[in-house]
Amino acid sequence: MSKYRIAWMPGDGIGNDVMEASRIVLDAMKFDAEYVHCDIGWEFWCKEGNALPDRTIKALEGTTCGLFGAITSKPQDDARLELAPELKDKKLVYFSPIVKLRQMFNLHTNMRPCKSYPGNPLNYRGTRLSNPSAEDVLVDQVIFRENTEGMYGGIEFHPVPQSVYDALCLNPKMKPWKDKGLENVALSTRIVSIQGCTSICRQAFEYAKATGRKRVTLVEKPNVLRETGGMMTRVFRKMAEEYKQFGIWADEANIDAICMWMFKNPQDYQVLVAENMFGDIVSDLCAGLVGGLGFAPSANMGDTYAVFEPTHGSAPKYAGQYKVNPIAMLLTVKMMFDWLGAGHGGGGAKEKDMATRLESAIARVIKEGKVRTYDMGGKNTTLEVAQEIAKYAG
Ligand code: NAI
Ligand code: MG
Repeated sequence: MSKYRIAWMPGDGIGNDVMEASRIVLDAMKFDAEYVHCDIGWEFWCKEGNALPDRTIKALEGTTCGLFGAITSKPQDDARLELAPELKDKKLVYFSPIVKLRQMFNLHTNMRPCKSYPGNPLNYRGTRLSNPSAEDVLVDQVIFRENTEGMYGGIEFHPVPQSVYDALCLNPKMKPWKDKGLENVALSTRIVSIQGCTSICRQAFEYAKATGRKRVTLVEKPNVLRETGGMMTRVFRKMAEEYKQFGIWADEANIDAICMWMFKNPQDYQVLVAENMFGDIVSDLCAGLVGGLGFAPSANMGDTYAVFEPTHGSAPKYAGQYKVNPIAMLLTVKMMFDWLGAGHGGGGAKEKDMATRLESAIARVIKEGKVRTYDMGGKNTTLEVAQEIAKYAG
């Protein structure tokens, strides 16, 4: 029997291409796992009216953790149009299966490292222009994104139920919308909790402490989002006091301002912590600084279960062409090894070593620059890049 059972969720589009690539590396490294294929994604919405079938949730429950490629997601109206004819009048509501997974399994922490590897021609260009040897100017940031609450909590209404509308209209600030009429109003909420804020801030500070990073930056907008942003800021400030003794500097930035600062001085930031939507936004920005979505891995982690996925989506225009960069997915596999190496699922030193070996192999292939996908200016396929990395990692 294999040591691990891994839920295998390629999903849609290039999710399939990059998952196939990851298997080349996993097999070369002799990762001791059984892979449990799970249905998820657009195909199952269209055919069954459910992008996350119950059988998938059941299958996940018997696994150590999950590896996920990407899914295609579309706005509600477009989603209904693509349903099978017999499902069209059933008033089905589309939801993103990965967002649902994060909530169902309470995967409260989304960790997104963005690191520039020397030799990557796509590393931060502004820095390179001012410093021609700037491949060594390391951008090395880790974003901790709250993964179950906030703007992506899924509490949304259209039409807004009368009782909710009436309650909102008790607030005089509702007047402009009241005048527009109930039927013309849509509502998405941003609900946060002390528990959610505390958990994500704790993860960020603990990570900084464990890895010797000296700066933790809160990304919020408490001057406008006074209650939700205010709660997060209060929790962050209180916790910052605890970590002063470890020489960790805690500072705060508004989401809009940090988009500018990050672009100007990316190497100054180390650990960032944010609510769900702000974390989503800032992590794509950080990915852009280190080469784009082809280099951005992520981990959705709860207390005992985790799902690992590259930050990118299904990139439909490249689906099935084996053109896209598998490195984001392979760095995602590295994060899975890290998680197992930290003791989850009975893992330990062996998996820690596999994480180090895989990252070194990725760094080496980037630096050598002989085998590259289109985004790095090369002509190699997704699978060729994976084979090259497997050669050094295996
Ligand atoms: P996307 O991430 O799929 O692609 C945007 C562009 O980034 C691509 O056209 C390509 O130029 C580049 N790119 C992405 N991955 C790459 C890789 N591995 N190598 C090289 N270049 C890469 O985002 P987009 O186009 O906004 O969304 C496409 C679909 O994916 C949508 O249906 C969206 O809802 C979904 N999506 C799903 C996510 C998930 O599964 N977690 C996350 C983001 C989007
Ligand atoms: Mg995103």
